[in-house]
Amino acid sequence: MRREVNANSAAIRLVAFCCTLVALTACGPSSDTPVGKAGWLTGSNLEKLDTVATHLRGNDLVMMEVDWRYQQLAKAGRQQNWEAAEYQLNKLKLTMSLGKERRPKRATSYDWFFETGFPPMVEAVAKKDLALFEERFVAFTQNCNTCHDMEKVSFFKVESPQN
Ligand code: HEC
Repeated sequence: MRREVNANSAAIRLVAFCCTLVALTACGPSSDTPVGKAGWLTGSNLEKLDTVATHLRGNDLVMMEVDWRYQQLAKAGRQQNWEAAEYQLNKLKLTMSLGKERRPKRATSYDWFFETGFPPMVEAVAKKDLALFEERFVAFTQNCNTCHDMEKVSFFKVESPQN
């Protein structure tokens, strides 16, 4: 008898919990409520995520950051500011890794660059050797262009920045 009462009150508590959950969900903002400034993000939650992903852009924007950091790397190395050079190399790796994640069709070429392009450059910076840096920077630049060939965008020619 006692056990039955307990079971009943447990069932009642469960039903009450479910009702509260349903009520809360119904009162809360639905998934297609526009969000963002002036409600610019519209549609279902999935559609909103898709819109944000489109605004995040693809490899073209990655390359704009890559190009800027590549030039900063040249400047830092030539000034023998090795900490700054190491920083730029790390950020180059980061932006390329995220680019690879966003555009899997470029993954094989990126992997090739991670294996071939970065290690000699990382070594020159770690050794704090200006002559080695200059020599490796030429190869680094060539590897940028090799990837452009591999990805059929050879019309983008990377040139080592002048001093
Ligand atoms: C995965 C191979 C790959 C590597 C490595 C790579 N690129 Fe690119 N790059 C591309 C592709 C593909 C494009 C064309 C943009 C796109 O994806 O829509 C491009 C475009 C560019 C552009 C033109 C961007 C624009 O929209 O105007 C520049 C500048 C550039 N790359 C610089 C570099 C530099 C500098 C390096 C080396 C540090 C480099 N890239 C390494 C694949 C690569």
